[in-house]
Amino acid sequence: MVENKLSPTSITSNLGTHFIGQRVIYYPSLTSTMEMARQEARLGAGEGTVIIADEQTAGRGRLKRVWVSPKGNIALSVILYPSVVNLPSLIMLSSLAVVHSIEAVTGLKTQIKWPNDVLVNDRKVCGILIESSMRGDLVDYAIIGIGININLRPSDFPEIQSAATSLSAELGRDVSRLMVVRRLLVEVERLYLTLRAGGAIYEEWRDSLMTLGRKIRVKSGKTVYEGVAESVDRDGSLLLRRSNGTLSRIVAGDATLRD
Ligand code: BTN
Repeated sequence: MVENKLSPTSITSNLGTHFIGQRVIYYPSLTSTMEMARQEARLGAGEGTVIIADEQTAGRGRLKRVWVSPKGNIALSVILYPSVVNLPSLIMLSSLAVVHSIEAVTGLKTQIKWPNDVLVNDRKVCGILIESSMRGDLVDYAIIGIGININLRPSDFPEIQSAATSLSAELGRDVSRLMVVRRLLVEVERLYLTLRAGGAIYEEWRDSLMTLGRKIRVKSGKTVYEGVAESVDRDGSLLLRRSNGTLSRIVAGDATLRD
């Protein structure tokens, strides 16, 4: 039986990070870790403070969607104070940190679907939500929200069953949330320090995207684009080659594979 209890001490002790996850605020149940993280950031919480919940009753996804967040999964938010130039890279950092931690703990092969969905065997296993607040030209705070389906049984949730999977569903056994969370926090810090030191994570993120070279449809606001995903920019935007030969730059959206 896998030990699946989370607590601030079990997450923090001997974690080996300098600041990410050195303060963990844990809730058995919470509306959304994003809301609590925002409150903490406004009160000046230290960089790297983590808000984690066993379940969320109002989990939020990208593009105003609901994020199904039952017990047994990971729902956490990390508070950061990045420079404005590093803000667009948080998308890349978070998805790479998730990919590295899932692969290290489970050995499963993962893929990133632009911009930051992490998939296993073409189904979504993790969603990432980045929110930030600016004060003039400066970043007031940024919050990385990460939801990983660890021990979720997709068949229990018909609304996501066809598109989602979980680590346990893929492996056919329970997975330790604690191991994934700890590794994730170590990876977030490593990549964040790389970024702060001027190191590049863009190339690794670009090369990990399963979307590039594929025929896709992207919904961005009310507009739907179709074409071939040609590349991504350093700020995370997608460069889509349309059938009329023009190149569209899409900053945010939802991609569906069409080939
Ligand atoms: C998405 O793919 O739409 C993003 C999902 C992000 C979910 C995480 S779970 C932790 C944090 N709290 C939330 O309410 N949302 C994010």
